[in-house]
Amino acid sequence: MKTVSIWTAAVFTAAAMTGIATMTMPAIAQQANADGDQATIDKGKVTYAQKCSHCHGPNMVNSGTVTPDLRTHPDDKTRFVTTVKQGKNGKMPPWGDILSDEEISDLWAFVASRRKP
Ligand code: HEC
Repeated sequence: MKTVSIWTAAVFTAAAMTGIATMTMPAIAQQANADGDQATIDKGKVTYAQKCSHCHGPNMVNSGTVTPDLRTHPDDKTRFVTTVKQGKNGKMPPWGDILSDEEISDLWAFVASRRKP
């Protein structure tokens, strides 16, 4: 287990209060694509539900908030990994100390599998 920061714990508390039910929505079957096989995508999906969905929405989009629609993220893994590790503009939290490279790679496979054309 990695150390979870106090900040993250606070976010989880907030998420619990606003309804953790949205994180347990039934999985929607997804097709594998070039960015990862189904097992990798599924691992990314679990991490996403735990660490990202309370801000970015259970399905990559959270209308009415400042979070960008991740389905429209460009096909640029380097940009994704850098943003997730370092955070962005003080609004997107940095995950470099919390998630391993493999977990971030799995997240990318999941996000890429949902990309809108
Ligand atoms: C505390 C809320 C919060 C959490 C948790 C969060 N994000 Fe974000 N994220 C944001 C916000 C806000 C932005 C927009 C930052 C900006 O552009 O100013 C953002 C931006 C991003 C971007 C940049 C998109 C781009 O076009 O460059 C990516 C990628 C991203 N988030 C992925 C993730 C992933 C993956 C996770 C889970 C590990 C995650 N986020 C967790 C709030 C959050």
